[in-house]
Amino acid sequence: MKLVKHLANLGYGSRKEVAWMFREGRVTDAAGEVLYADDPLDHGSVRVDGQPLDPPPGLVLMLHKPVGYTCSMKDPGRIVFDLLPPRFRLRDPALSTVGRLDRDTTGLLLLTDDGALLHRIVSPKSRLAKVYEATLADALRGDEAGRFASGALLLESETTPLLPARMDALAPRRARLVLHEGRYHQVRRMFAAVGNRVAALHRPQVGGLALGELPEGHWRALDAADLDRLFSPETP
Ligand code: URA
Repeated sequence: MKLVKHLANLGYGSRKEVAWMFREGRVTDAAGEVLYADDPLDHGSVRVDGQPLDPPPGLVLMLHKPVGYTCSMKDPGRIVFDLLPPRFRLRDPALSTVGRLDRDTTGLLLLTDDGALLHRIVSPKSRLAKVYEATLADALRGDEAGRFASGALLLESETTPLLPARMDALAPRRARLVLHEGRYHQVRRMFAAVGNRVAALHRPQVGGLALGELPEGHWRALDAADLDRLFSPETP
């Protein structure tokens, strides 16, 4: 692939705009030598305005999603892509969220431009655990863990019962849940099904990958070791 197309695919501009960047001498190699639009591609050694390029396709990142951002491209309000470099919205292949978190849910959100990986993560066959911490409007009654673990709980307007899920009480109004599926508003609807209401919801972990010290609103690219951790079988 020509360098000009690679840069356009990374969102640095349209092909025409990127061609101008070459003309203006803004695209160089690591030693500062000016590069040309049809030069061969050596991603690691290219600089734009002296800066290394954004990660190449195959990008996987995790974002610590704050309250108030939607996992959508279209929403007129705040969207999770507002928390990433603006160029990331223009990439081809496109970066998408891996599943969704509700607008008012915080925590670990994965994004990738790798369609096969996205399917592997969301596939029920991978049985990736999603860990949630819920703060509840009312105190736990004591029967919730048994009902969630039963494999018989039906959510409103659904006909297939939920897979067994694990719940541990953390405090009278706080619970940790481990799910192996991802239905629409699942955690909120599970607590609604047992007569409670989720007041706040946080996802600290997916598979074996945890947010760790990543501050709210921040993101980082994942490396091979992170992906091993994500798919690690010994999840919570
Ligand atoms: N379950 C929910 O209800 N909301 C989320 O954002 C994720 C899981």
